[in-house]
Amino acid sequence: MASTQAQILVASNRGPISYTLDEKGTLKAKRGGGGLVSGLSAIGPEAGALWVCSALGDGDREAVRRGVGEEGVRMLDIPADVHEDAYNGIANSVLWFVSHMLYQTPLEPAFDAEFRRQWASFETYNRAFADALAEEAAQGAAVLVQDYHLTLVPRMLRELRPDLRIGHFSHTPWAPPEYFRMLPDDIAAQLLGGILGADRAAFLTQRWADAFTDCCHAVLGPGIPSGTRIGVHGLGADADFLRKRSHEADVNERIVALREQIGAGRKAIVRVDRTELSKNIVRGLLAYRQLLEDQPSWRERVVHVALAYPSRQDLAVYRDYMAEVQRLADEINSQYGTPGWTPVVLHLKDDFARSLAAYRLADVALVNPIRDGMNLVAKEVPVVSDEGCALVLSREAGAYEELGEDAIVVNPYDVSGTARALHEALSMPLDERAERTKRLAGAATALPPAQWFLDQLRALDA
Ligand code: G6P
Repeated sequence: MASTQAQILVASNRGPISYTLDEKGTLKAKRGGGGLVSGLSAIGPEAGALWVCSALGDGDREAVRRGVGEEGVRMLDIPADVHEDAYNGIANSVLWFVSHMLYQTPLEPAFDAEFRRQWASFETYNRAFADALAEEAAQGAAVLVQDYHLTLVPRMLRELRPDLRIGHFSHTPWAPPEYFRMLPDDIAAQLLGGILGADRAAFLTQRWADAFTDCCHAVLGPGIPSGTRIGVHGLGADADFLRKRSHEADVNERIVALREQIGAGRKAIVRVDRTELSKNIVRGLLAYRQLLEDQPSWRERVVHVALAYPSRQDLAVYRDYMAEVQRLADEINSQYGTPGWTPVVLHLKDDFARSLAAYRLADVALVNPIRDGMNLVAKEVPVVSDEGCALVLSREAGAYEELGEDAIVVNPYDVSGTARALHEALSMPLDERAERTKRLAGAATALPPAQWFLDQLRALDA
């Protein structure tokens, strides 16, 4: 069964590389970033690592078909309709919504026949990963399974290969039992049981780990079996990479362009997110509008720079959300704007260099998610900031556990409270701001990605 010799395997839906196909039929590779990529690079290719991921678009599928690929990466060409059901249907529309508590009653959710059909695809998709991992792993290898897309993999893999050491990592929050149990009982049990097939189930914060344990007790009765350990690894920002990257020429150019849009002498409230319901961008805009209303002295003296990049645009609810962000930004601009002042500067096109530029010049960073596994923006801003930045932070972000003391903390639903927090942040004396930023940067970089990854491997051995 074990045909190759991978000693360390990572499995995730989205892999470290993706391919696009141009009009001439040429494939172009694009490398991704993120904690796992820098974590894996820390152990080096000689360690015999293999990353198993899905082919996500036409380019990826064509690459698999032509046998184009990169050493250390295996892309699974799961049939497009199965992937669609598993990724957009179950993972993004159900599991993401449950873990971030995003459903809007009375219309949603409805776990009906369509859901059951998609669930069967989710099982097929998880089975494809388990089979590939079982085939590639050397005797006794370590397998690190990532995220809610692959919840069923640890149990399936354990049955195929009892010799393996299996870890599962959740990058999202975990819902409390009262919310989690809106899932049909058999599905809830299958999800928990899937993760409990691992030797170790790890989370970004103690809060999410506790919620998982509570769900196991509520749904499964006996709770966590003795064979599964629970762990917490709070992924931090990659200071070395960020400090270097944020001073490259393209970032400097973006700073000039942004400063021009903001206008001389004005303060900038910055936010950087995927345009994601859980990020709470709309309430952020409402809070900003309330600030302009309640504190007219800030008019003409502040600009809200909102970088809201497209995400999961196959889903109507995400497209609608993006349209609402755009509409509200326009409304605020026509309501308050003057010939020399645009109150909201909104950018909807993904641009990492622009994100870093915004981090560097921000006076205030607004990070107000409804719920968030960690939120790395909150950790990256203080590391990159040129002159210190006040952080307005939701208490529902995982990062709150580490950054709460030096941030201005908000309840993400409280628009008036967030408006007051923005006023307080804008009014913070510059020396206090710089002091806090220094402490925030220290806390934010406590566990850099490479260390985060190695800690998980070590913990699996223990
Ligand atoms: C966020 C979450 C991850 C998740 C990823 C998927 O970054 O924190 O837990 O894996 O989204 O995003 P995608 O674009 O692949 O749907």
